[in-house]
Amino acid sequence: MEWGMKNRLSQLIQRDGRALFLPIDHGYFQGPTYRLEEPGKTVEPLLPYADAIMLTRGVLRACIDPTKSKPIILRVSGGTSMVGEDLSHEGITTSVKEAIRLNASAVSASIFVGSRYEHETLINLANLVNECEEYGIPVMAVTAVGREMEKREARYLALCCRIAAELGARVVKTYYCKDGFDKVVRGCPVPVVIAGGPKVDSELEVFEFVYDGIQKGAIGVNLGRNIWQHDYPVAMIKALRAIIHENATPREALDVFSQAKNTGKR
Ligand code: R5P
Repeated sequence: MEWGMKNRLSQLIQRDGRALFLPIDHGYFQGPTYRLEEPGKTVEPLLPYADAIMLTRGVLRACIDPTKSKPIILRVSGGTSMVGEDLSHEGITTSVKEAIRLNASAVSASIFVGSRYEHETLINLANLVNECEEYGIPVMAVTAVGREMEKREARYLALCCRIAAELGARVVKTYYCKDGFDKVVRGCPVPVVIAGGPKVDSELEVFEFVYDGIQKGAIGVNLGRNIWQHDYPVAMIKALRAIIHENATPREALDVFSQAKNTGKR
């Protein structure tokens, strides 16, 4: 692997082989998502605990202080909206030149396997990899499901992750599934990070699926709403950090959460 690629990947994946990515890119198709109406304010107290942030160029330029940033994973696919016809109809929205200008450590694009636009999104990914490899920029593929959250089961996720890796993604972001997640990771020859999905009911539930995902081979998370839509987002990210970087169990993470909740700021 060339120096630039290796260097960028090391900004994302830490020396322990683990990673906590914080995505705030949801507005690219959802608009002003709950508790992400002002992304700069949402992310500011969380930045010290994230290894990288994932976002679009628009929010990066408008809301993130370039002198106090973290490594950037630039979301470069989009072109759809919640009220449009088909969320899978994504194109590449941001050039690699822009990613270089913004000093991105990686770029990220969604694939929609099994959707009407499967082919287009897979070719988007392949073309992006072709261009990014020229400059030593890793591509993180996002195995997206659009509105069809029930698709999140092992056979489908394994298919998506493997295809993403075969097309050249250096990291794959996918959903966790209770049954067979080890097979999803085993079938993917590049590192896998877990996306959170919609906010779940309890903190322990989040800690349990992240912990289990890591035991089954994921290197960490790319987790947004379950952190910043929580009433105590700083406590959440501190607890998740303990699982990812200190091998805390879900119960130990809950203690970290409770302590941070009682002593820290929201
Ligand atoms: C959605 O497609 C975005 O790319 C998010 O980055 C991704 O879903 C992870 O965020 P969350 O944990 O909120 O699902």
